[in-house]
Amino acid sequence: MFIPQFRARRIRGSETFRRMVRETSVSVNDLVYPMFSAFGSGIRKEISSMPGIYQQSIENIVAEAKEVLALGIPAVLLFGIPEAKDAIGSDAYSDTGIIQETIRALKKNVPGLAVITDVCMCEYTDHGHCGLIKNGDVDNDSTLELLAREALSHVQAGADMVAPSDMMDGRVGAIRGVLDENGYDAIPIMSYAVKYASGYYGPFREAAESTPQFGDRRSYQMDPANRREALREAASDIEEGADIIMVKPGLPYLDIVRDLRNEYDLPLAVYNVSGEYSMIKGAAERGWIDEKRVVLETMTSFKRAGADIIITYHAKDVARWLAR
Ligand code: PBG
Ligand code: ZN
Repeated sequence: MFIPQFRARRIRGSETFRRMVRETSVSVNDLVYPMFSAFGSGIRKEISSMPGIYQQSIENIVAEAKEVLALGIPAVLLFGIPEAKDAIGSDAYSDTGIIQETIRALKKNVPGLAVITDVCMCEYTDHGHCGLIKNGDVDNDSTLELLAREALSHVQAGADMVAPSDMMDGRVGAIRGVLDENGYDAIPIMSYAVKYASGYYGPFREAAESTPQFGDRRSYQMDPANRREALREAASDIEEGADIIMVKPGLPYLDIVRDLRNEYDLPLAVYNVSGEYSMIKGAAERGWIDEKRVVLETMTSFKRAGADIIITYHAKDVARWLAR
């Protein structure tokens, strides 16, 4: 009979040994928690497709942010739902916009928590696209100006980092330029460098009320079939001054996370998006999967693929589970 020479099981026989040879670990330091700030007061409305995630008015955002900080999570990623939307997304770059007011409230009441803001137009435009519309499509270069204004306005309100998610060509350079000209050379940019046109954003669009009113985002977000193009997208954002690059969505694109990790030395983030969250929550609610086990396995897969930072709606649960 064949006697195996290599016995992989020797080192798997006890939790102590498994712990000693474990190659990947997840830490609370890796997590970023996304939040949806809605205009008004007394609002705390659960997203039906995202159990446990809410649209909240500022006082409730502040209350939850305190909880996030107490759990040891270093940062939140803010999205805004303005009072009114228009064709040019005016609220996005208004000093009294929903995000600007939220940033000020967070910096005042929860100063230890880093505030990262999503820089995009789709939450603020009545047509739901990520930029200005010209001839039935999003116009790249006129959108750059608005994105730069939006980012500057977030930073002036106190944002610690900005995260452009629009996928216009040149936006990292445009934002970097305007921030530097205004004395904010110390504020980092986390670029959604590799963002695919994904069906996994469905629940988010309910949360942010940002579904495009016509067409889709395929003329600016990446084709899910493309892998080499991810390297070109990342290269251009890095050249333009990105400090952190991101891959989004997460689980269906772990090959891309690994490609970027192998190619670049910059900190790498992955966005575990709304649809990924909904699938786990939905299956767990039905008792089909063990939520804690599946979530922690998913977080481990991001780290194993090479991510440093995980943006996830599971962040509070993960922080609690890791603390025990
Ligand atoms: C806005 C934006 C989206 C997400 C983050 N920023 C939606 C989109 O591009 O349609 C998706 C986040 C998620 O699904 O959790 N550009
Ligand atoms: Zn957008």
